[in-house]
Amino acid sequence: MGSPLFFRAYLPLLNIREARANYGVLEKCGIPVIKPTLFLGSEPNLHNTVLHLADIERFKKYGPIWGSYYGRMPHIYITEPDLIRRIFVKDFDHFKDRQDMELGGEMLNEIMEFQKGEKWKQIRTFLSPLFTTSKLKQMSTVIAECAQEFIRDLRKECENSTNGGVKIHCRNRFTTCLIDMFVRTMFGIKIEDGKNPGNTFGKAFREMLHEEHEYNWLFTLTQNTIKSRIESGSSSTKGFLDLLCDFWKRIEAGEYSELGITQTTQCIAQGVLFIVGGYETTSYALSHLFWRIANNPEIQEKMHVELKQAISCHNTHSIDHELINDSNIPYILACINETLRLYPSVYRPERICTKDWSYNGISIKKGTCVMLASWAANRNPKFYQDNPEVFKPERFLPENKGTLEPYAFTTFGFGPRNCIGMRFAYESMKLFVCNIVNNFRIELRPDTELKYKPASPISIAIDPLYLDFVPRR
Ligand code: HEM
Repeated sequence: MGSPLFFRAYLPLLNIREARANYGVLEKCGIPVIKPTLFLGSEPNLHNTVLHLADIERFKKYGPIWGSYYGRMPHIYITEPDLIRRIFVKDFDHFKDRQDMELGGEMLNEIMEFQKGEKWKQIRTFLSPLFTTSKLKQMSTVIAECAQEFIRDLRKECENSTNGGVKIHCRNRFTTCLIDMFVRTMFGIKIEDGKNPGNTFGKAFREMLHEEHEYNWLFTLTQNTIKSRIESGSSSTKGFLDLLCDFWKRIEAGEYSELGITQTTQCIAQGVLFIVGGYETTSYALSHLFWRIANNPEIQEKMHVELKQAISCHNTHSIDHELINDSNIPYILACINETLRLYPSVYRPERICTKDWSYNGISIKKGTCVMLASWAANRNPKFYQDNPEVFKPERFLPENKGTLEPYAFTTFGFGPRNCIGMRFAYESMKLFVCNIVNNFRIELRPDTELKYKPASPISIAIDPLYLDFVPRR
């Protein structure tokens, strides 16, 4: 039995059996399943598939719920509001965690997004007060400053251009200034001249933009900033940095030791969490919005007219927290929401089933991963009746609010584990969009093309998207 020959002959078969061990589990629950291959699961071509676009096609083919095997792991994809509410909100007790994710480094693996159970809850409870209305108002001043600098830089570039406008590589341009914005708002540190080739931050930007996702500089920055704030004893705004310092001191006093929360990993990791979680998602949302309005000049003009009116009513030249109040710019906010509906940056918010669960004829076994197929859910014709593919901001105007199904707008997830930075994201998007629309007309170029990269792990990824920003007089 134990001879090497036996293993050589039967090991491949044992491995195949092991790989197929869960096949059939989803079918037994009555869920239509993407037929798995012999032992590579349902998606052997995963690395060549644009997953969020595949979800739209699968919704058309299988209906509101379907399953697949990711290797041997059963996955269920959901799109119906009732089921989403059950799993993400009402029965959160059964669906608290996300899948384990290897992000390529001890620190990065420790960010809250991938923590489980009680450890996640403690960190979330600790960080939640950061986004109260008064804190957001404080941070808004810094965000507005960054948006104005962005405009100033662009205007300067336009002065030197031959046709008066400037060609923008959307992702790179927004990402660079958003990283600067996050570091400034969260840590109070201004990144000087990020474009200078010798600048440490500039180098880090370039590494990030080349998709190497090298975050070590951010961990070092966080650690040094926390330490020097604690040493100097200064605490002013009760902002993010003060929260982290408080967290650091409590860990030092042994408060979280039984959860395995340490300074070097947990505290510093949460320091980079908001930057890592926020810059790319927001950058993609802005890129899509400007691409959409470059395609729809009449929508762009309506945004501009609304903004001019808000500025003149407020008798001001600066675009700030008060001016971007939702009631002053309902149409611009509707354009942002319609963009977020059609192009959710996080395309599959997910939960792992931690206790067997059943509801309405659907049974889900412990260990199954449930994914909210956001791109499909946000295009469900049942809830967006007059052609869900059409960019129609009116859907989100206050007078049409009653016609919207809240669980059919899934862009920020739901329940206790929804996007913690949602209000921050809206604040920064409104400030950037208003500043840009006030100063520039956005135009398509002959080389403008919106194309997605396949299989990005959490957030969607686009190929370079070029647009012209032409200054308004
Ligand atoms: C347009 C911008 C953004 C979009 C579309 C977005 C979307 C999402 C989604 C879908 C989730 C998962 C929710 C769930 O599983 O129910 C999430 C989680 C998260 N987001 Fe965002 N996000 C954005 C901006 C931000 C910003 C600006 C920050 C930080 C300031 C942030 C920080 C986080 C964090 C920390 C989590 C994990 C929450 C937890 O596990 O408790 N996000 N985001």
